[in-house]
Amino acid sequence: MKILAIETSCDETAIAILECVGDETCAEFNTLGNTLLSQIEIHREYGGVFPALAKREHAKNLVPILESALEEAELLHEDAQAIPEDMRANISAILAREPGLTEAFFAFVSECEVPAIDAIAVTAGPGLEPALWVGINFAKALALLWQKPLVAVNHMEGHILSALASGKGDTLTVQGITLPVLALLISGGHTELILMKEWLEYELVGATRDDAVGEAFDKVARMLSLPYPGGPEISRLAEALRAEQVGRDKARLPDLGLAETRPELRLPRPMIHEDSCDFSFAGLKTAVLYLLKNRPELNEEEKKLLAHEFENAVADVLWKKTAQAIEKTGAQTLVIGGGVSANTHIRRIFTENIKQEFPDITLRIPSAALTTDNAIMIALAGFYRARREGIPTDIVANGNLSLSHK
Ligand code: KG4
Ligand code: ZN
Repeated sequence: MKILAIETSCDETAIAILECVGDETCAEFNTLGNTLLSQIEIHREYGGVFPALAKREHAKNLVPILESALEEAELLHEDAQAIPEDMRANISAILAREPGLTEAFFAFVSECEVPAIDAIAVTAGPGLEPALWVGINFAKALALLWQKPLVAVNHMEGHILSALASGKGDTLTVQGITLPVLALLISGGHTELILMKEWLEYELVGATRDDAVGEAFDKVARMLSLPYPGGPEISRLAEALRAEQVGRDKARLPDLGLAETRPELRLPRPMIHEDSCDFSFAGLKTAVLYLLKNRPELNEEEKKLLAHEFENAVADVLWKKTAQAIEKTGAQTLVIGGGVSANTHIRRIFTENIKQEFPDITLRIPSAALTTDNAIMIALAGFYRARREGIPTDIVANGNLSLSHK
């Protein structure tokens, strides 16, 4: 099945075309085309994602990236197309709320043959609703014009299922997965532990009670006058310090002994001793805020110490809650997904700890390109959903779409 997938839930406009075959026991995904435009530079001056701007950028980007994804997949065949008046009117109605998109849409599709794809998958949520709607309406317009079935995808399911995939280059496979799968989803909007007991059936095991972990990274980075997005910036500082401390011997991570040497830079590990698998990061962020109130002028070395301590605090809590969840659920496979799982230190801590504490459990962490938002993960999830449920009749954006309820 050839799936064209569209992702516009946040600040990445992405379209991918994948050839998907197989079933839950063994599936193979071949990426034929994959285009992604990040809006990070545009949002940087606002210090975070600005929804109205994200929507406008998606509307501007969708047609050009569709063209380049189709071209890469060798599915772009130019030929003048006659679009009947009533079809044109229906599509214009679908795109009425996406200024700028209608004209570009018709200019492109009236010069392009219907591509040989079998379905269109699109992110329906969670995310920023204005941003989600652009992608959904674009997908609806294409589906109507090209007479292709449309599949709604939960973005978080995309993160989970793509984390189960392994492989190199353009081919990914999902096979030999032992259930139950526990997924730690960590991004700018989510911090959740989700159990997949059966394929595509989810149960919420734990979640943040306040800020998402990526949000905490971004806010703390801002307090340290680092640019958005803050996660990679904090990671850069903390890794620089670790490298100074241990040289090349990354296996021996330093305990900087902050409690003795610089107790004022020590941060809390919120909820670490509680039995619940929930998280809280607001207190950690506030601790940094107070620390900086008392010491507004941190020098470069102190900034590194603080970034290092913050990252350690986050990793300690994430690991402790995940370990509790493994014990509670009897999970056999652990996956980490979402933008924050690109973090070098978190990847390292999880890799080491799983080996030591749960040697029988398989840990899967997606490649860096698959951890941040992309359309490949939407195609993957769209494939499993379409196989399981067939094709829905209508799609509505839901900014708070969840996989499960506690
Ligand atoms: O999943 P994602 O791309 O977007 C959504 O939030 O859905 O995640 C973005 C988040 C941002 O908060 C960003 O700071 C964080 O992921 N992030 C990182 C790293 N790379 C991205 N956080 C820590 N370390 C990183 N290397
Ligand atoms: Zn995401």
